[in-house]
Amino acid sequence: PTIRLSDYRAPAWRVERVELEFELGIDVTEVASRLLLRRDRAQDEPLRLDGEGLELLSIALDGQPLPVDRYRQTEAELEVDGARDGSVLETRVRLRPAQNTALEGLYLSGSRDTGFLLTQCEAEGFRHITFFHDRPDVLAQYTVTLRADRSRFPVLLAGGNPDGAGELADGRHWARFVDPHPKPSYLFAIVAGRLERIARDYRTADGRAVKLVIWSEAHVIDRCEYAMDALERSMRWDEQAYGRNYDLDVFHVVATHDFNMGAMENKGLNVFNAKYLLADPDSTTDDEYRAVEAVVAHEYFHNWSGNRVTCRDWFQLSLKEGLTVFREQQFSADMNSPALKRIEDVALLRRAQFPEDAGPLAHPVRPSQYSEINNFYTATVYEKGSELVRMLAGKLGPDGFRRGMDLYFAHNDGQAATIEDFLGALGEANGIDLSPYLAWYAQAGTPRLRASGRYDATRREYALTLTQHTPPTPGQAEKRALPVPVKLALFARDGHMLPLHVDGHPRSGDTELVVVADKAEQQIVFREVDAEPVPSLLRGFSAPVILEGMDAAADLALLLRHDADGFNRWQAGQQLATCAYETLRDHGGGGAIDAWCGALAGLFAEDGIDPALLAELMTPPGEVELAEREREADPERIHATRQQLQQRLAEQLGGEAILSRYQALARETSAGLDATSQAQRRLKRRLLELLALLDTPTAQLLAAQQYEQAPGMTDRLAALAVLVRSDAPQAAGALAHFRQRYADNPLALDKWFSVQTQRTGEPALAIVQTLERDAAFTLKNPNRVNSLYGAWARNNPSGFHRTDGAGYRLLAERLAELDALNPQIAARLATVLNGWRRLEPVRRARAREAIAALAEREGLSRNLAEIVRSMLHE
Ligand code: ARG
Ligand code: ZN
Repeated sequence: PTIRLSDYRAPAWRVERVELEFELGIDVTEVASRLLLRRDRAQDEPLRLDGEGLELLSIALDGQPLPVDRYRQTEAELEVDGARDGSVLETRVRLRPAQNTALEGLYLSGSRDTGFLLTQCEAEGFRHITFFHDRPDVLAQYTVTLRADRSRFPVLLAGGNPDGAGELADGRHWARFVDPHPKPSYLFAIVAGRLERIARDYRTADGRAVKLVIWSEAHVIDRCEYAMDALERSMRWDEQAYGRNYDLDVFHVVATHDFNMGAMENKGLNVFNAKYLLADPDSTTDDEYRAVEAVVAHEYFHNWSGNRVTCRDWFQLSLKEGLTVFREQQFSADMNSPALKRIEDVALLRRAQFPEDAGPLAHPVRPSQYSEINNFYTATVYEKGSELVRMLAGKLGPDGFRRGMDLYFAHNDGQAATIEDFLGALGEANGIDLSPYLAWYAQAGTPRLRASGRYDATRREYALTLTQHTPPTPGQAEKRALPVPVKLALFARDGHMLPLHVDGHPRSGDTELVVVADKAEQQIVFREVDAEPVPSLLRGFSAPVILEGMDAAADLALLLRHDADGFNRWQAGQQLATCAYETLRDHGGGGAIDAWCGALAGLFAEDGIDPALLAELMTPPGEVELAEREREADPERIHATRQQLQQRLAEQLGGEAILSRYQALARETSAGLDATSQAQRRLKRRLLELLALLDTPTAQLLAAQQYEQAPGMTDRLAALAVLVRSDAPQAAGALAHFRQRYADNPLALDKWFSVQTQRTGEPALAIVQTLERDAAFTLKNPNRVNSLYGAWARNNPSGFHRTDGAGYRLLAERLAELDALNPQIAARLATVLNGWRRLEPVRRARAREAIAALAEREGLSRNLAEIVRSMLHE
């Protein structure tokens, strides 16, 4: 069934209070529920509650057991006769947690003997636990009592504040939690089992004493300290940046290895994929440390942007996700290097969201319809959604945005809100009408912004023409012009920024201006320009668009050399590298290649540039991004050409210079997590990769050495990747060593799987086939599945997209098996085939066959069916 935004209706029934009692067991858990119902008098609808896979044991209304003719249970609903406003409905159901492989609702993490029970409800998991109005606009007060055997389940947790605990007969015990804040069902959570804890006392800016507790299995509890630090930093930051304080007496965080997503912001009881919580130098890379900090912050920030103000319906998902991603990006920029953070986020947008927007699964940030909501936790809703918030924040400026956010929280606290409420509050607080920006939320596809300039020496004017156009997306043939804020500067040939004189612009005279391009075509005229300038457009990536034109190699090289802002420099470098790549592909050589290599050689020789930024500048756009620019992509050729381009760069820098810089870094770098050491490791890795293209045996020798001497995972994994990708004679030994060393560390072992999938070209398939037969491989664990098939299909295009189609067939086969276990994970993995239509004809035909065969299988989940059918839809 298709759910449509336009069909939204306020609920006819609400639940005011809910009391839940769990009798917990691994095989069988019983859930007793007591709902205090409220009815909207204006609507005359029978009481219908969501409920799936629930074995109903008993049911009573207002204290009276209901005879079978007074209620009806279907696959997804329970309909009850005779309920009134103020009625109390009591049900008792039986669940089987150990059999739940979908990891939605109540399930077992780990083994039967040592594992623990936990829940995942967003988006619609609560209906797998009890009968309820499982929709985000029904906010209720929860009281939860857990009962279980004390020795098997010593720790009992639920969201809210603790409200008593005690002993029962037969070695059982109980614990109760009351959440004073009304919340939607998707924020409900419980956890029960043998867990260890670390705790810290925190005092909020408004004076509340809060106990922060992180829980994990005992043997990894000492890897939770970094997350605890990150949590404290997040809480402080939200107080200072947004004036938001935490609002319960306890804040619990739990790590699990069995989780469909990154993490979940359940009220007072966040649950994390261990990948985003556990960290120690021996098994965690620098990138992963930053990811832990970011995800801890993201989930914490949800307490206001998501929990206190939640979503009216799932079409509004970006209201909480886009906003929370944006808040996390601001936080991470404050904690680390703002330029690098922006580079990473824009690179992610281009790698993950642009392809989504350009393919058969394209949808607006606020989708208008869906069949399975779990398929809409996408890069578009999250990352593009964050870019939209960034545009609004940019328009209002820091003070105006803060004013707007204050009003948004004040107006919508305790409510289920919409995107209109958000734009309305931001606008109202600033006396601005932001409704033109609503179109960004409703229109799918990435706008193309084409720029061209003309200099008139006699009038001393520079005219910039901007045209915009958004290609059609499925179901949205017609596109309108959107307001595109273009932050820009003009550079003189000597590398200085010019003061900008634009008639009527409020900030005329500044060296950087924002012009909003909101028509299909428009022109901006800069006056008093003495010589033809070099424009720098879309600075800071001021709008999520694809910029076209303005790619004269000499101009981009100038920006790459002279722009003081790290992000803008990188952006110019990426554009120039793309030109260089295309020149190499089409002509085998030429000016752009020399311009790119030459500019980088200049920067390489300079002191004072941040090594991490330098590493990023020396990395051309990835293979996925380059493929996006082609109508008939040949992943093998893209890979080969990109390698050649990097080889040119390596030649220009010179083997000697690369080697000596590498060795200097190897001597200087400490094992610490400080920014300098991280930056040095990043550059060291890049240099080793470049050297491998120039002098493979030397690079392999150094990599083998680096692997052995590495003080931490960043260096160790970087070295291993170089060994694997260059098919070094030392690779097998290192892999065997890694495998043994981390046999008991699933997160490190995931890296052992992934790194091997990165062998490019022909050998990759056989490697994947060997790995799936490994004793440590299982389709039941999402991280493991992603570390094998996800890493292969997403990050190694030349290894996955084979002309014989064997990659597609293997993946389709596994998707069908996986779908029977975990539909959410199967559906997400299937999206790696999203770009099939833009492959060259041979691969395209093979991919199509594999997808079509999968689509025809019997019994596909709604999740996977929606993805494969949309991908085939003409
Ligand atoms: N709200 C979570 C977050 O912080 C994501 C949970 C999504 N769960 C799902 N099954 N789709 O982003
Ligand atoms: Zn989120």
